[in-house]
Amino acid sequence: MTSHVASLRGWHVALARAEISALLPEMAAHRLSARRLLCLEGSAPVQRFEEAVSCSSGCQAILLNAVIWSVEDGLETLFQRVEAYIETYPRTGSVAVRSWKHEGKMDGMSARELMRKFGGMLSAQSYSIDLETPDHRLGMVIDASAGVIVCGWMIGTGDESDGISSRRATDRPFFKPVSLDPRLARLAVNLASGPLQRGATLDLMTGTGGFVLEAAVSGRQAYGIDLDPEMIEGAQRNLDWANASSQARLFHGDATTLDNLLPDDVKQRISGFVLDPPYGRNSQGTLAPVTLIQAVLNSSSSVAGPGAHFVLIVPIHPYGEYGDEALPVDAPIHLLHGEWHDLEACFEQTGWKIEGRWVEHVHASLGRLILLASSVPRG
Ligand SMILES: C[S@@+](CC[C@H](N)C(=O)[O-])C[C@H]1O[C@@H](n2cnc3c(N)ncnc32)[C@H](O)[C@@H]1O
Repeated sequence: MTSHVASLRGWHVALARAEISALLPEMAAHRLSARRLLCLEGSAPVQRFEEAVSCSSGCQAILLNAVIWSVEDGLETLFQRVEAYIETYPRTGSVAVRSWKHEGKMDGMSARELMRKFGGMLSAQSYSIDLETPDHRLGMVIDASAGVIVCGWMIGTGDESDGISSRRATDRPFFKPVSLDPRLARLAVNLASGPLQRGATLDLMTGTGGFVLEAAVSGRQAYGIDLDPEMIEGAQRNLDWANASSQARLFHGDATTLDNLLPDDVKQRISGFVLDPPYGRNSQGTLAPVTLIQAVLNSSSSVAGPGAHFVLIVPIHPYGEYGDEALPVDAPIHLLHGEWHDLEACFEQTGWKIEGRWVEHVHASLGRLILLASSVPRG
């Protein structure tokens, strides 16, 4: 069976897999032997792939109907299959070949020679080659870890950097140490909100606007709330700076009282809730961290429509590097503030089902838990 293959950035592969699956829910996804390659099976218009790759944080490219070759198949097979691929999936306009590597160099394999060979095949089939601004690019990923080469017409840049990570939070006019890494913020927004058309994103405690900004610049309708007027004013400055104000609206108020705070037209639109709560004692001063999260979950549940998702990011005691897979369901987690089983119970009691947990290594004494939950229809 032919599949499309997503080529993922190396920063946090497990989250990148979850992100592209959230952006393309109509596709069945399963990983190849190479950790950074994900098979996507199913059908969707090309425009859906373009949209998903361009708003994702973790996907470098999708190779359509890709040839998946493994080193045991022998080089001649690769050449035959790529030649047949070019014939089977013709393109109109100019073309170029683009290649990139995962996990170092594959023994005895020269990307340059392969590109030359595939370029020759394209010329032989009467394509005009334009290395600067081709209409179509034939992408080739060489993955040394699994001895796999994947080749196909490409959607996305194939770059290791998403362009988001180069836009650092410290560059914004309003920055605080709590500001989220834009790359993680974008990923969390996509996990929570799914495809762009699905609905709006609500950043429940927006601070300097980490999530709301990423949601708005990626073309989503975004809403943000904060109890602190200084944060609302600063987040607005950041939105203006990013030319994203037309996509976003901020509310000064309490995320535990959404039903009163948000106008009806806003409530009905939200498909993704994202929460990065304050560390330790919060600005309300009275609620313990897990109790505050429970109040926000409860309040969010009261306005969540069917199919809504919730992403929570909280600090944890260091877990070490664990970026290749989601956490096993029974893996113990030690929150920095409060107990995991209390947090888990909060989700259950407020109408949210935990769908996945991932950890991010921050430094030797700090990790982060990224948790995805879906809204459970109330009977
Ligand atoms: C960790 S910061 C969020 C940082 C944010 N993600 C960013 O990128 O800047 C938590 C924020 O929650 C706000 N906050 C605390 N309690 C709140 C509540 N009940 N409702 C709304 N905002 C609240 C604080 O004022 C603070 O700005």
